[in-house]
Amino acid sequence: MVKVAPSILSADFCCLSEEIKKVENGGADLLHIDVMDGHFVPNITLGPPVISSLKGKTYLPFDVHLMIENPEKHIDDFIKAGADIITVHVESTVHLNRLVNYIKNKGIKPGVALNPSTPLSSLQYILDDIYMILIMSVNPGFGGQKFIPKMLEKIRDLKRVILQENPEILIEVDGGINEENAPDIIKAGADILVAGSAIYLSSNPGDVIEKLKTAH
Ligand code: DX5
Ligand code: ZN
Repeated sequence: MVKVAPSILSADFCCLSEEIKKVENGGADLLHIDVMDGHFVPNITLGPPVISSLKGKTYLPFDVHLMIENPEKHIDDFIKAGADIITVHVESTVHLNRLVNYIKNKGIKPGVALNPSTPLSSLQYILDDIYMILIMSVNPGFGGQKFIPKMLEKIRDLKRVILQENPEILIEVDGGINEENAPDIIKAGADILVAGSAIYLSSNPGDVIEKLKTAH
């Protein structure tokens, strides 16, 4: 069954621990934490102090999505803060192989994210080293945007490559996911669905999580 990772970007930041309990009780599998620096993307969110303050408030693994320039400068801080998965954008760093292996050698699961226009070929020589690939299905920076339909083709193409090269790698899809488009995204090959606004702007987050998990 597909896993669901609610993004706290659309949660009420004044009471994050209650907001996290809501999705934990609602059956979430991971907690997706969007870190933005105002440079790599045109928005600023939160950093290591907020993440470490949430550790111990939930048993959900922390799926940390770094949308920051020069992520290598901050990796140790995110590891210390309690990240379980750290995903970096291929567009954000020159030495991707070094960074991914650094994360892995620290015992953290490394993920690599691609912006919508970045081709899958940028992953060709990194597939032996990573735990997860995050396909952005909106341009990163904000919650509540519309899913880019062309990304279904990208997910299908990626699934084909992964089955040939390293079937262990998980495909996470992030941006504009809701109950209506989830079946197609799952059929295309997604293993993990990230959803922010669909879950947090709903009056019943647990119900949305359940619907996403059982979508077909
Ligand atoms: C966008 C973030 C997403 C975002 C998803 O830059 O990476 O994780 O919070 O939010 P929705 O589900 O509202 O598109
Ligand atoms: Zn994200």
